[in-house]
Amino acid sequence: MAVNIAVLASGGGTNLQAIIDFNTRLGDNAAGMLRLVASNRASSGALERGRAAGIAAEIFDASDDGSALIALLSRYSIDLVVLAGYLKHLQPKVIAAYEWRIINIHPGLLPEFGGAGMYGVKVHEAVIAAGAKRSGVSVHFVDDQFDHGPIIGQWTIPVDDGETPEALAERILAVEHTVYPRIVEMVAALNDKNFLADY
Ligand code: GRF
Repeated sequence: MAVNIAVLASGGGTNLQAIIDFNTRLGDNAAGMLRLVASNRASSGALERGRAAGIAAEIFDASDDGSALIALLSRYSIDLVVLAGYLKHLQPKVIAAYEWRIINIHPGLLPEFGGAGMYGVKVHEAVIAAGAKRSGVSVHFVDDQFDHGPIIGQWTIPVDDGETPEALAERILAVEHTVYPRIVEMVAALNDKNFLADY
C-alpha cells in the first residue's frame, strides 16, 4: 500500500517542486504518492506546480476549526501531511487527527530562530543579527506550537562573513530542496503499513 501524501503550501512551492522532481528522477513515487496539493491561498504558486505535475490541487478555508481541511484530507485518503511553506497555524483538531503524521520544514536551526512570526527572510535577519556562525535547515513533526515538535533531521551550513539575509536565504533554500524529499521519503516509508508489518 502506498502512503498518500498531501503537501500544504501558502507560497511559491519550490519545496513541493523539489519533491515532485525527486519522484520523477527516482521513479516509482520514491518519496511517497503525492495525491494532493492544498492551499489556503488561491494565488499560491504551489497549486500551479501541483496541477502541472498532474496532482489534484485544492483550496480550502483555513478559518474554521479545521473541519474543512480534515474533510479534504479524508477525501483523498491522506496518510501523511507535508507542510512546505504553509504559513497558518494548524488547528488542534487537525493535529490530533494526524498526530505524528504532519511534518514541517524550517529555514533555520530549531529550536533557535523559530516560533510565531519567524518565517522567510526574518529568520535569516535574526540569525545574522545574532552573529550566528552557522544556520541551516530543520525538519520536525508538527505539534500545537509553532516550529516546536520533535526534530527529525537537520543540516547545517556556515554563515559567511558579511552575508546578507537574502543571500543566506537562497543558499538555505537550495539545501531544503535536497533535504526535504529525502526526509519525506523516510517518514513515508515509516508510515507504510506493509513496511511496519515487517517488524
Ligand atoms: C521555505 O523556506 C520553508 O523552510 C519555509 O517556507 C519556505 C517555503 O518556500 N517553511 P517554498 O514555498 O517551498 O518555495
